[in-house]
Amino acid sequence: APLEVLVFGSAIIDFICYTPRLPAAGETLHGHKFQRGYGGKGANQCVAAARLGSRCAFVGKLGDDSFGADYLCQLCTEHVNVKYVEKLPGQSTGIAQIAVADGGENNIIIVAGANDSLSANDVNQAKKLFEQAKVLVCQLETPVDATLAALRQFKGISIVNAAPAMAKTPPELLQLASILCVNETEAALMTGVASICSISEAFVAIQRLIELGANTVIITLGKLGAVYACNIDGRQLKEHVTAPQVPPELVVDTTGAGDAFIGALAHHLAQYPEGELSAHIAAACAVASKSVQLPGTQASFPRA
Ligand code: RIB
Ligand code: NA
Repeated sequence: APLEVLVFGSAIIDFICYTPRLPAAGETLHGHKFQRGYGGKGANQCVAAARLGSRCAFVGKLGDDSFGADYLCQLCTEHVNVKYVEKLPGQSTGIAQIAVADGGENNIIIVAGANDSLSANDVNQAKKLFEQAKVLVCQLETPVDATLAALRQFKGISIVNAAPAMAKTPPELLQLASILCVNETEAALMTGVASICSISEAFVAIQRLIELGANTVIITLGKLGAVYACNIDGRQLKEHVTAPQVPPELVVDTTGAGDAFIGALAHHLAQYPEGELSAHIAAACAVASKSVQLPGTQASFPRA
């Protein structure tokens, strides 16, 4: 059966500490729980789409350590095509140190390890997948040159999740992506808009991203849902899409909610190419809002 969603990007092992609040600089805190999980924005997005029922492939790099071996097994369990996932001799699998506060807020440090070796050559190797896939998804936890090569190669619908954000994003990245998707923090960093706390500030940031050469833009806003802008028949359409309200006491872990959104968006674009973008975004918001109600990243993503 033909491939639907191709994800080119990162796979990372998450080390998650649940703590009453996020630590201040120099502070030691008692956390109340520890969990290891499968993460990395790329693999998260891929698993999110696979769980919803899309045929998915992942192109990425792992280390030749036990984490890499475990991760490869995990991706197979999730029915992801791993033909072009490589375990690199002498390299470490990427890791993330994550703190999650009561209430669901988090901060993350990643050490990319093997992810740093993903290159334009891997795009050539996996050429067949690039020819088959309907939707390509990329992020910025792997080298941007490789991502640009992937986008140049691909002729279908491409989603670039510019996360973590770069202050000086190469304009070509925005121009090549059919859809640029970032959260409010990433959009602020990319545009120089001081902070994005409201729908109207998000629309200002969208306008700047379009001026920088972006095509369709989506900014996710957590519980406020998302805003997007796209061109239809030469007219610009801008809209706010609300997310289902989750009572605060049910929000346990927002880590990976953005990845659940992107994976679900890719799935819906692949399955319903004739559908409206606003409907796809609403469906993706619903998937993300489910993920925040369970701990972990991939572990919390819903199945169809
Ligand atoms: O977006 C969440 C992800 O960011 C985590 O799984 C972590 O690995 C980091 O890459
Ligand atoms: Na979660």
